[in-house]
Order: sequence, then C-alpha cells, then structure tokens
Amino acid sequence: MTAGWFITFEGGEGSGKSTQAKRLADRLTAAGHAVTVTREPGGSPFAERLRAIILDPNLEKHSPLAEALLFASARADHLEQVIRPALAAGHVVICDRFSDSTRVYQGYAGRVEPRLLEALELIIVQHTKPDLTIVVDIPAEIGLARAALRLNPSPAAQAPSEKIPKQPRGLLADRFESRGLDFHKKLREGFLEIARLEPQRCVVVDGQSSPDDVARNVFAAVESRLFTEAR
Ligand SMILES: Nc1ncnc2c1ncn2[C@@H]1O[C@H](COP(=O)(O)OP(=O)(O)OP(=O)(O)O)[C@@H](O)[C@H]1O
Ligand SMILES: [Mg+2]
Repeated sequence: MTAGWFITFEGGEGSGKSTQAKRLADRLTAAGHAVTVTREPGGSPFAERLRAIILDPNLEKHSPLAEALLFASARADHLEQVIRPALAAGHVVICDRFSDSTRVYQGYAGRVEPRLLEALELIIVQHTKPDLTIVVDIPAEIGLARAALRLNPSPAAQAPSEKIPKQPRGLLADRFESRGLDFHKKLREGFLEIARLEPQRCVVVDGQSSPDDVARNVFAAVESRLFTEAR
C-alpha cells in the first residue's frame, strides 16, 4: 500500500491526455495537494534517454520483443527513481501513459504475445498499480487530426483554448503516430476493452468535448473514485 495516489492517463494519439494531465495537476495543486506529473515512456533521466530511442522515427527495423523490453526497462527506472518515491512522500502522481499503453500498443494492436507483457508487468510494476486510470476516448480520426495539427500548427487554425503548453517534441511524427488508421482504431478498441475489464480502476472520459468539459469530467472521476473513498 502506498501513501499517495497514483493516477494514469491513457488513450490514443491526440486524445488529450497531456492536456488533461496538466489541468488535473494544476487543479490538485491549487487545492493544496503535493503533485508529481510525469510521463511514459520516460519520466526519469535514464528512461527519457530510452524514450528518444523508442520513439525515433528513423529507428532501424527491430524485434517487437526487444522494443517491449526497452519500454519495460524505462518503466522500471521511472518507477524506482520517480513514481515510488513520490508516492511514498504522499504525492498524487499523475502519469501521462503507463502500462495500459504497453498492453495496447505492443500487445492488443502490436506483435508481442500479451502473456509475455503480463509477465513483464507483474515483474516491473509489482504493487505500484494505478489507483485510477482515466481513459480519454476519441475516434482515431479525430485524435490523428489533432496530433497532425500539433505537429504543424497554424496560428489561425488553433483556438485559444487549444494553446496549452506541451512537452517538447520533434517536428516529425513519432513511430507510433505515423502508423495507419486501422492501427489507431485498434488502439481505441484496446483501451476501451481494458476499461471494460477493469471497471474498478478505469474511467472512460469522452475526449471530444471542450478541454474544459473534459477536465470537469476528469475531476469528477477523481473526486468520486479517490477522494471520497476511505483507504
Ligand atoms: N478537448 C479538446 N478539444 C480540442 N482540442 C484539444 C482538446 N484537448 C486537447 N486538444 C488539442 O489536441 C492536441 C492533442 O492534445 P494532447 O497533446 O493533450 O493529446 P495527447 O493525448 O497527449 O496526444 P499524444 O498521444 O500524441 O501524446 C493538442 O494540440 C491539444 O491542444
Ligand atoms: Mg501527450
């Protein structure tokens, strides 16, 4: 049992995870909670180095299992260096993607045997399972269009509410963003399937409404699932 709360954001490309992770962090910080916001792949200096390799659009053809092990390695370091210490200090840890992304990208929509991924998750995540996972759900087409706009924004095309600071990224779509529509449809299906199978942990939030509305629904889920529960 950890002292803090562990909240993860999951969902397809451009669904609004990073936007909402930041909004939730700001709101919880303003309410007086100690908050750590982090992301995967990455989140610790070593894991960020692995992230740069994993998402490199020019990466050589490689084994899907080797890639899954890189994700696992990054996650092990991130948990040890950042997530577990923050939880032990009583922080609310908000993580932008976590193990459900591995299950879906590498397993459900990918080419790694899900049982292998399950075994890796057991070894690496151990007892540090998310207390709450918010699945931000949007049709793949809309998410991809948003991600494309973000890579190549035109000021006229961006509403003020969409001008939200984001983590630095290159000008190229990463290796996952550049996969076809069918892959992204499958991702959506995979995240919804996890939420269906683990309703205790997961809440699906409609990502198509305005950022303010999504943020309200996210906060309502956090309040009802976490802050009203006795531990
Ligand atoms: N509810 C919303 N309505 C319209 N646009 C949005 C909404 N939420 C976020 N956006 C915009 O869509 C783009 C993608 O949002 P964001 O980066 O938060 O998504 P993400 O899920 O983190 O994407 P990725 O999987 O690529 O990291 C950004 O330009 C963001 O400003
Ligand atoms: Mg993001």
